[in-house]
Amino acid sequence: MRKKIVAGNWKMNLDHQAGLSLYSEIIHMAKDELRGQQQLIICPPATLLYSLVQLGGTYSQVSIGAQNIYHESHGAYTGEISAEHVASTGAKYVIIGHSERRGYFNEDSFVLSKKIDLALRQQLYPIYCVGETKEERESGDYLKVITQQLEEVLGQVTPQDFKRVLIAYEPVWAIGTGLTASPEQAQEVHQHIRLKLGSLFDHALADETSILYGGSCHAGNAPELFAQADIDGGLIGGASLKSRDFIEIAKNFNAN
Ligand code: PGA
Repeated sequence: MRKKIVAGNWKMNLDHQAGLSLYSEIIHMAKDELRGQQQLIICPPATLLYSLVQLGGTYSQVSIGAQNIYHESHGAYTGEISAEHVASTGAKYVIIGHSERRGYFNEDSFVLSKKIDLALRQQLYPIYCVGETKEERESGDYLKVITQQLEEVLGQVTPQDFKRVLIAYEPVWAIGTGLTASPEQAQEVHQHIRLKLGSLFDHALADETSILYGGSCHAGNAPELFAQADIDGGLIGGASLKSRDFIEIAKNFNAN
């Protein structure tokens, strides 16, 4: 059985106090209301990583992840944060290749494959994001784009290391826009990703990989999306900034 995961990407929102309050609410609600094996991951701004790890203590249903790391291991890179820094806070996950990083910071496959490698060397779990733009979808080439993003960045990862990698499919046209991929559109791409991972690694491994959907996912559309065979959870932006909304999304994986 693949792990069911609901991850929140807080992006550059919430100050220190607001982040601590939201995380406490999420933990309380998760303890009271989650009745399943679902894993929650919160990816706050880097300044909150250590504090949230401490606040969560030994409660293991919620983990902490970073939103980014630098593509070199250490050195004179003023202002950057390394994989080692993130790991030393106790955070376990790191988002790599979010379309906002690819777009605003020109992160290409070369840089992203270095980040994946550094994250894996620090025993972090990368959440590798792929997704097509509106133009790429409309041109009909979207599956090719996804294939290229997988091959170029994961091509050098060993099958042993790949066991730590999660994938997030986030169509760029759906992020923060209120437009969501239909369940059928999302399932088509998730199935394609799993097949592609099967040929890059092996099919048993691909079958064990959690593939999350992201892009205007909220409590209203999560049930239909998560009911799809190859959708194993979500990477949630806007709706992760409200504890009630986030927990409602996660409750889709409660045991009956
Ligand atoms: P959104 O963001 O849920 O606000 O669309 C998702 C993401 O960027 O991970």
